[in-house]
Amino acid sequence: MRHENLFTPVDLGAGLILNNRLIMAPLTRCMADENLVPTETMAAYYGRRADIGLIISEATNISPSAQGYPKSPGLYNDAQVKAWKNITQRVHQNGGKIFVQLWHTGRVSHSFFQNGEKPLAPSAIGIEGHVPRMRELEYGEPKAMTEADITQVINDFAIAAANAKKAGFDGVEIHGANGYLIDQFLHFSSNQRTDEFGGTAKNMSRLLFSVIDAVKKEIEHVGVRLSPAAYFNMEHDVRDVGVFDYVLSKLNSLELTYVHTGIFEDSHIDYLNGSVTQYIRQSYHGTVIANGGYTAKSGAQTILKGDADLIAIGRPLIANPDYVEKVKTEQVLTEYTEDMLTELI
Ligand SMILES: Cc1cc2nc3c(=O)[nH]c(=O)nc-3n(C[C@H](O)[C@H](O)[C@H](O)COP(=O)(O)O)c2cc1C
Repeated sequence: MRHENLFTPVDLGAGLILNNRLIMAPLTRCMADENLVPTETMAAYYGRRADIGLIISEATNISPSAQGYPKSPGLYNDAQVKAWKNITQRVHQNGGKIFVQLWHTGRVSHSFFQNGEKPLAPSAIGIEGHVPRMRELEYGEPKAMTEADITQVINDFAIAAANAKKAGFDGVEIHGANGYLIDQFLHFSSNQRTDEFGGTAKNMSRLLFSVIDAVKKEIEHVGVRLSPAAYFNMEHDVRDVGVFDYVLSKLNSLELTYVHTGIFEDSHIDYLNGSVTQYIRQSYHGTVIANGGYTAKSGAQTILKGDADLIAIGRPLIANPDYVEKVKTEQVLTEYTEDMLTELI
């Protein structure tokens, strides 16, 4: 078998043992029902992929105001908890593990999802473009969050984490990446606040650390996904790297299950002196999940070099539900194409 180092079990502590080092990256599929309740089709989709070391679910709304995409599932009411329980049971029956990725989209939303109100953001700075799959909905100017709004969001993360436990998830991934709410606080182009949530690395990361604190009280295993490179719905600012230096060094003192790279292609970035994963590895001393354009081969090499402990795979897993088996038996993979997004295979 090639790439053998991908197929050794990993002990992530507190009884969480993964069968291999491959992780299913979170993948939004917009196929919950009209009430944002996961479906039986989703249970079959995740169940088919349970031979991967750990599934990280598609991004999941912590509250109604977190929503920015049609039919993205939630985890804030009993019907959603029950439906997710069906999914976690399916994955467990098939020998796998599953975390839920908890999400607030912030300014990457539209008043359409907010009962006509403006979406929430650190500052009233909008983005260009339109809601995916809903071309008629152009993004507009968001509302700068009040301290009460921020407290509410932290509470909503805690409630969703408690629901994750009820639903049988093995842990939670906090979505701090890809230009969504927490990431909006971590970058200067989207966070121009002058209160205790803006202006300095400590202030800009206050929401992230408050959310980690609140979520940790509810569930044992907590991972965090971060995007130190502003690459999606975000503009780069030279000062951002100082924020992430601070965040990563402070994460060392918390008992997290992992830190996970959020980027589409994990290639060299000059101002980070390496790939995003290498940059994270330099400052963060716990378990690191690499992601962004990896193959089994490049993933195995990355682990061998010591740049990461685990490798998350996204698009190839959409195209190949049997990805693990295919890699193990050296079969050719089906190429991912965007038209595969219309169906959950
Ligand atoms: C259709 C699609 C949906 C995605 N949804 C999410 C998501 O819900 N949460 C997230 O953090 N990243 C999401 N991503 C990013 C992936 O997790 C991953 O970072 C990206 O696809 C790069 O990895 P890959 O090259 O292995 O596909 C999505 C990517 C795609 C293509």
